[in-house]
Amino acid sequence: MGLTRLAVLVSGSGTNLQALIDSAERGENPAGRIALVASSAPDAYGLERARAARIPVLALDKKALGSQGFEARLLQALLEQEIDLLVLAGFLHILSRDFIARLQVPIINIHPALLPAFGGRGFYGLKVHQAVLAAGVPFTGATVHYVNEIPDGGQILLQKQVPVLPGDTPELLQQRVMEQAEWLLLPQAVARLCTELQRQKEASLDAPS
Ligand code: GRF
Repeated sequence: MGLTRLAVLVSGSGTNLQALIDSAERGENPAGRIALVASSAPDAYGLERARAARIPVLALDKKALGSQGFEARLLQALLEQEIDLLVLAGFLHILSRDFIARLQVPIINIHPALLPAFGGRGFYGLKVHQAVLAAGVPFTGATVHYVNEIPDGGQILLQKQVPVLPGDTPELLQQRVMEQAEWLLLPQAVARLCTELQRQKEASLDAPS
């Protein structure tokens, strides 16, 4: 009873969303269900992935709506859908403090590096992997963390290391980090949180009033 209802936010290709969909289809998240996929751009390919999996979508256009209008529409949909957990999966918008305070559910993000290294404002997409290569470090990886008002600054939930190899380009490294870390880590973190949230929901229903 009381499945955790999650919403996934995307801005682009949505391979992390696909990892969540595939993992759910393999039965790895019995406590949760993806109730909504929303985007910050109407042509985000992640929306197609959601449609193919018969998940309700909300295609928003941040450029047209402006940041505040975009957040207002998003918040309204998430509250209407009674979302219990919000997952940012390749979502290129920094949520405002006000949005986070109003939503009042846990929010998590997947970042393609070992935070706190190579994180914060400006570290997104290939830029992260370019910075890793420029620094010459032997390892990078991915991090799932809670979202607060500080970009990439919330508490860390899970991390996984990936080696940097000779001859790596930012594109090669990005692909390895996705395959060996992101696509495994995000479904794991989501399943774990959904179980925890379901337990909390059940406990609060059982509690004497
Ligand atoms: C991923 O590397 C994710 O960690 C980062 O943006 C990229 C998005 O990939 N935040 P996708 O849209 O999930 O394919």
